[in-house]
Amino acid sequence: MTTYNLALIGFGGVNRALAELIRDEPQRFLTLGFELRVVAITDLAFGSLVQGDGVDLDAVLAMPRGSSFDGLPGGSPDPRNEEVIRNSPADIVVEATFTSPIDGEPAVSHVKWAIESGKHVVTTNKGPVALSGPELSRLAASNGVRFEYEGAVMSGTPVIRLAHKMLGGLELRAVQGILNGTSNYVLGRMEAGLRLDEAIAEAQELGYAEADPTADIGGSDVRLKVAILANELLGAGIHPRDVETTGIQDITSDDVAKALASGLRWKLIGEARREADGRVVATVQPIALPSDHPLAGISGATNAASFTTDLLGAVTVSGPGAGRVETAYALISDIMAVNEFAKGAVRA
Ligand SMILES: NC(=O)c1ccc[n+]([C@@H]2O[C@H](COP(=O)([O-])OP(=O)(O)OC[C@H]3O[C@@H](n4cnc5c(N)ncnc54)[C@H](OP(=O)(O)O)[C@@H]3O)[C@@H](O)[C@H]2O)c1
Repeated sequence: MTTYNLALIGFGGVNRALAELIRDEPQRFLTLGFELRVVAITDLAFGSLVQGDGVDLDAVLAMPRGSSFDGLPGGSPDPRNEEVIRNSPADIVVEATFTSPIDGEPAVSHVKWAIESGKHVVTTNKGPVALSGPELSRLAASNGVRFEYEGAVMSGTPVIRLAHKMLGGLELRAVQGILNGTSNYVLGRMEAGLRLDEAIAEAQELGYAEADPTADIGGSDVRLKVAILANELLGAGIHPRDVETTGIQDITSDDVAKALASGLRWKLIGEARREADGRVVATVQPIALPSDHPLAGISGATNAASFTTDLLGAVTVSGPGAGRVETAYALISDIMAVNEFAKGAVRA
């Protein structure tokens, strides 16, 4: 049985959920043919911890935020990310820190340090993927390791790997998605009669929306995801700034009511499409969809992606686009991909 040593970079919602699954459900991994052992953790709040024989997950998961790894064997009050990523005995670095939509840092550096030191990387952080994905994938390939990031788009719901693995032999012409659960929830509540500001306030109360909902409502969250899909699935080679982006901030209750009366539903649609001349056009914009569109019926905070293919027409997948456990599953699916790649090549 292969054992993968993990270094968790960031110990917030997602990586804690992964640690809980490793602690509570070892049989889930045994059926996948490998065991997981956390050997290092870094976090701005807790500092860093390196324990080559395996971190006591019960102990660290019981630590309240505000406490420090200082005082534990191998612990330090400082995150020491570079040292831990480069020198800890990890096979796989699990990057789940803050997303920067500007330059992807510090996550881009975390990924580079890991790859340069011969470690695989799995991440749910869309920043490094949207802003430096192709470069980091090339670096990983030249270092003989994997860089996997299924959770960067639609959390644990398979999109990237589904398109790569299950749509082989098809010409993919476009991908359209509802890629932000908050804005979809808000539009749905406006259909039920709430004003935009009331629907946003409700989404905040329910924990769907951040205190500052700008990235969700203004479309910049979806912009990063569309750039990822355009590059990953259509080889576009674009930067997020190339994605023309309009959010739902100017959609009024009147717009929503008029659309409904005509059998249309407003959705915030992220799209990457290959034009007849070969160019890839990527956009984020609210669109009033007819009821027979594959994305028209996607309600609440659910996400969906619809692939337009030559032989099958539209193929659509829907599921959660957020949630700590759901996103931790994306990391597990990435580790499964690393395991496929590394079968027999890593220490048991
Ligand atoms: N949660 C989801 O549903 C979801 C879904 C898809 C993708 N993602 C992405 O997954 C990543 C993790 O999400 P999350 O929900 O776990 O976020 P989170 O709860 O905010 O956790 C992130 C953790 O990383 C720490 N951190 C930030 N910068 C760091 C640094 N430079 N070095 C070490 N630690 C650092 C944070 O510490 P401080 O709190 O002290 O800053 C925090 O403890 C994010 O990029 C997010 O966008 C999340």
